[in-house]
Amino acid sequence: MAHWRQALHLEPPQGWLNDPNGLCFFGGQYHVFFQYAPLGAEGSGPKGWGHWQSADLLHWTFAGMPLRPDTPWDQSGAYSGCAVPFGDTLRLYYTGNVKHPGPYDYIHEGRESNTLLVETPDGLQMGPKERLMESGDYPADCSLHVRDPKVWREDGLWKMLLGARSLADAGRALLYHSTDGRAWTLARVLELSPAFGYMWECPDTFTVGGRRWLGVCPQGLPHGETENQNQYQSGWFALAGDLETGTISGFTEWDKGFDFYAPQTLEAPDGRVLLVGWMGMPDADYRNPTAALGWQHCLTLPRELEADGGGLRQRPLRELDALAEGTPFALNGETRTVPLPFRLRMAAEGDFTLTLAGGLTFTRRDDAGLLELRFTDDALGGGRTVRRARWAGGPLTVDLVADRSALEFYCDGGRLVFATRWYPGDPAVPVALQGAEATVQTLGSMTFTL
Ligand code: FRU
Repeated sequence: MAHWRQALHLEPPQGWLNDPNGLCFFGGQYHVFFQYAPLGAEGSGPKGWGHWQSADLLHWTFAGMPLRPDTPWDQSGAYSGCAVPFGDTLRLYYTGNVKHPGPYDYIHEGRESNTLLVETPDGLQMGPKERLMESGDYPADCSLHVRDPKVWREDGLWKMLLGARSLADAGRALLYHSTDGRAWTLARVLELSPAFGYMWECPDTFTVGGRRWLGVCPQGLPHGETENQNQYQSGWFALAGDLETGTISGFTEWDKGFDFYAPQTLEAPDGRVLLVGWMGMPDADYRNPTAALGWQHCLTLPRELEADGGGLRQRPLRELDALAEGTPFALNGETRTVPLPFRLRMAAEGDFTLTLAGGLTFTRRDDAGLLELRFTDDALGGGRTVRRARWAGGPLTVDLVADRSALEFYCDGGRLVFATRWYPGDPAVPVALQGAEATVQTLGSMTFTL
């Protein structure tokens, strides 16, 4: 239904979107590239980088697919990667995926993974593609799954992380150094013993609160009642020391909802570190009903990261405040029908149940020590059921950003976040809250120029 088109979340005009790519601020603009297959809402057809740009994170302009899979090195897809502003040019580093037709397992045979560089003056016109590394260049004990370069400059050096799967089926991140950003030398293999999943996709690193952090997307972790509930995971490790010699520990999931994967960070000109994820999940067994309408998936809101003791907090971008429309109203026991998008803020001392569109509950249950997001209406959740997080009790804040087919619950000052897609039958939804009081603020829309 047309009213599922988002007001606050970036999505493709048509076709398929997955990971955010090449997030950066360059030439006075925020650039948000993303994995894009414009010809098929199920992800079929050539996959390259789509492109949204904005000067203020609220007014966005779409520029199609400026990076396309048009060489032998990336013939099966211009896969995920990053952007590094360097003088007057923007360097895009990404994985050129090559899959050979045949009876291959595509883990040990049948696949090539090229680390490619392309320079652009504006994020739109692309220079020639250069191949910097190919499958034979990675450590010999890696499988053919090596991808998703994250490149940055530090202490006069260029550094790169690549996600990988070892021959022993251990997830790992490869750290490389370079003096020119073109010729790379392996500096370290980061992995855990015993193995922490069989593959790490989309590594990222960023500095928040004066410390460096490592983000990865592990595949193959055991699923639990409140941990690792999705098909694949996405989270951060705290790092003691530097990436070259330090130890990583304490994997924490970014998000406890149904739809969050493959995030990247960017540094805004004012110093904020912003995180954007794919609001989707590979190989998830649900059908997103927008696919029948010709498009599928969106990105999360940019989330401001903040250090919090040994952890990280996430908050919705502060620019959203500028979209407030009309006077906020209190919600206290009664049911109100509220047009989407809106923002709902509450503080609760004990148990509460927030019910949205009559078919989704967000509940705090102190007897069980849980926060729970549950679809009671199958169509509203596209067939999904429940996601949980442990909650120890005490006062709890919830800051919900509700979009036309996306919800992000930022709880406890951003220490716990739940992102999920939802598909309400109407563009205005009943909202009811028991056990606490909330303030609801109607929001206007970002603008998306095609
Ligand atoms: C993560 C991922 C990446 C890959 C891209 C392909 O969702 O599998 O590892 O580069 O998607 O679209």
